[in-house]
Amino acid sequence: MSLYSEKVMDHFTNPRNVGKIENADGVGEVGNARCGDIMKIYINVSDSGIIEDVKFNTFGCASAIASSSMATEMIKGKPVNEALELTNKAVVEALDGLPPVKVHCSVLAEEAVKAAVKDYYNKKGIAYDHSVLPESSCCSCCGEK
Ligand code: FES
Repeated sequence: MSLYSEKVMDHFTNPRNVGKIENADGVGEVGNARCGDIMKIYINVSDSGIIEDVKFNTFGCASAIASSSMATEMIKGKPVNEALELTNKAVVEALDGLPPVKVHCSVLAEEAVKAAVKDYYNKKGIAYDHSVLPESSCCSCCGEK
């Protein structure tokens, strides 16, 4: 059995929504202190609060790239507040699983999406619950040995 599911391989070899949005409404960048990988997610949000466009750039492992690709697919066309409910667990499930040692890579995707939404809220002056959005630009792997 291969280490990665077919979906992981598909999103790794053919990632969706790769790139950059100039003057994006929200940009989130997170780094994984454990491995030095970096993920950046850009979102454009319509006046009615729908994520119209999303792009990502990830310098990281296959799991990080597949996770970001899947995460962008999962939030595109959704209300921006729903993007905050995206969990790394949901991303892993949508990918038909990741090897246990690679689950932390999917955390980057969750944190990058949240950071992009937070940036959007800050730019628009929209109040938000600080407890659900990370204050640091580093994912929860930071500090882990
Ligand atoms: Fe760095 Fe996967 S090993 S994000």
